[in-house]
Formats: sequence, structure tokens, C-alpha cells
Amino acid sequence: MTQLKPFMAEQMPKIEDVMLTLVESIQAPEILKEAMSYSLKAGGKRVRPLFVLAVMDHLAEITEEAYIVGAAVEMIHTYSLIHDDLPSMDNDDYRRGKLTNHKVFGEAYATLAGDALNTLPFGIIARMQNVTAEQKVALVQLLSETAGAEGMVGGQILDIEGETKQLTIDELVHVHVNKTGAILRFSIEAGAILANATEEQLAILRDYAYHIGLAFQIKDDILDIEGTTEQLGKTAGKDVASDKSTYPALLTLEGAKEKLTMHYDASLEALSKLPSEKTLLEQLATYIVKRNK
Ligand code: IPE
Ligand code: IPE
Ligand code: MG
Ligand code: MG
Ligand code: MG
Repeated sequence: MTQLKPFMAEQMPKIEDVMLTLVESIQAPEILKEAMSYSLKAGGKRVRPLFVLAVMDHLAEITEEAYIVGAAVEMIHTYSLIHDDLPSMDNDDYRRGKLTNHKVFGEAYATLAGDALNTLPFGIIARMQNVTAEQKVALVQLLSETAGAEGMVGGQILDIEGETKQLTIDELVHVHVNKTGAILRFSIEAGAILANATEEQLAILRDYAYHIGLAFQIKDDILDIEGTTEQLGKTAGKDVASDKSTYPALLTLEGAKEKLTMHYDASLEALSKLPSEKTLLEQLATYIVKRNK
């Protein structure tokens, strides 16, 4: 049985290597490549690429293409963090234990580094070898949908609206499903696309992804209250300070924790419908609810 901890220790450097090699290989101004690499190298849990790998590990075997798609989604995620931290958005000085991109490179270059990390992944997927044209189109389409206006970007808009009015719990679910859940759904479904999953497997994995997405952001909101800046590598207490609609704000900390457990249980329940051993996917769900950063 594969254990998550050694799996992470083995895979995280590989994912980082693929990302940095891809950035190094592009023809672009050195300062832009430096700003892009700065945030990619800053660390992070690499949960999204790990999901691509874990799904492939479950359904087939991990291929080179899984690392490329993993690198692509981590680049999109990293761009979303660079922009999320900008003064016009959450105005954060620290991310992944380091100064935020705009604190080091200035707002203009940080914005552009984000733009570059948002567009490069589509080219990377289009250039992949050893996958069919149909698989590439499916991946590009899914990434556009989940990262863009219909997914993460749309969710970020609703999230900002949640700072000036109190959202209902249904509205908040919608925010979380989009701003955080959508990209996680990409990772999980991308693994399924690469592994040529059946419709039945895909439906189960989508159900799992839905609960994982909600659990992930509920935990992020809980950590914003219970964690320290040092532990999180980003400024704690931001959500209360900006009067943001979050699970703890709407349901109290205890209520948020109950929802977290509920979605964790539901994610495992979904997985139980997949035959054979799915230990890494189970362990990733546990990691998400137990993590301390
Ligand atoms: C933070 O994501 C932003 C959210 C979507 C909650 P992560 O908690 O995955 O951040 P890193 O990648 O580990 O830094
Ligand atoms: C950001 O949510 C989600 C993104 C799409 C980047 P948060 O604003 O809560 O993320 P953190 O707490 O800054 O990482
Ligand atoms: Mg934000
Ligand atoms: Mg933020
Ligand atoms: Mg947060």
C-alpha cells in the first residue's frame, strides 16, 4: 500500500523540476521568467498535481504526461495566488513563507507573471506527446472552464462580493465550489481523462471532487482563524479583518468543523464506490482535513 508521506516526498521535487524546466525553456524576458519561477519555487503543498498523480495511480499508472498536466495546474494555481495577493485584491505581504510576488517584483511585473502562468499551461497541454488529440482537447476545455469565468475567476468575484454583504450559506457553497473547488475538480478529472476512465468512474470522482473542494476551502477558512502567520506562511486572521463571509463567520467555528467532517465523510463515501484499493485518494482527503497549513 502506497503511503502518502513518502509519495509526497518523492513526487513534490519532481513536480517542481518539471515546472521550472518548462519555464526555463520558454523564450521570454529573463525578469519575467525569474518572477514566474520565484512563486513556483516558493513551496506550497502541491495538492493539485498530487491529485492528478493519485487518480492516475489508482486507475492506471503514473505517466510522464501526468507530471506535465500536474505542472500545468500548479502553474494556474500559482498565478491565482499571485493575483489573489495583489493590493487590489487581498493585499497580502506573505505567501508560502516568503514575500509575495508584488513585494519583490512590483505590481506590474507580478500581474504579468500571473498572466504568463495563466497562459503557459494551455500551450504545455497542447504540445504534449503520447496522448490523443481528443484527450488534449478535453483537458484544454476543462482547464478553461474550471480556471476561468465559469470556475475559479467567477468564484473570486463572488468571494469579493462576500466582503461587503453577508452571503447565505447556499451562496457561500457556490463561492467555495467555484473559487477553490473548480481547480481541484480539474486535477481529479484530468487524471481520469489521462487514464481513459469510464463514465461511471468519472461520475464517482466528480462526486469525490465536489466534497474535496468544499472541505479544502472550509479548512482554509478555519486555519485563517486557528493558525498562526508563521505556521501558514501567509498572514493569519485576514478573513475576520476583511469581514469576509466564510463558514466560521456564518456557522461559528464549531459549525464549520462539523461541515468539514461531513464533506470529508462524503468524499470517502464517494470513493467507496470505486472498486479496488484507492488508498492515496483516501489519504489525500485525510491530509486536507488534518493539515495545519
Ligand atoms: C490556497 O491554496 C488558496 C486556496 C485555494 C484556499 P493552497 O492551500 O493549496 O496553497 P499552497 O499551494 O499550499 O501554497
Ligand atoms: C483564494 O482564497 C482562492 C484562490 C482562488 C486563490 P483565499 O483568499 O482564502 O486564499 P488565501 O487564504 O489567500 O490562500
Ligand atoms: Mg482571496
Ligand atoms: Mg487571499
Ligand atoms: Mg484563505
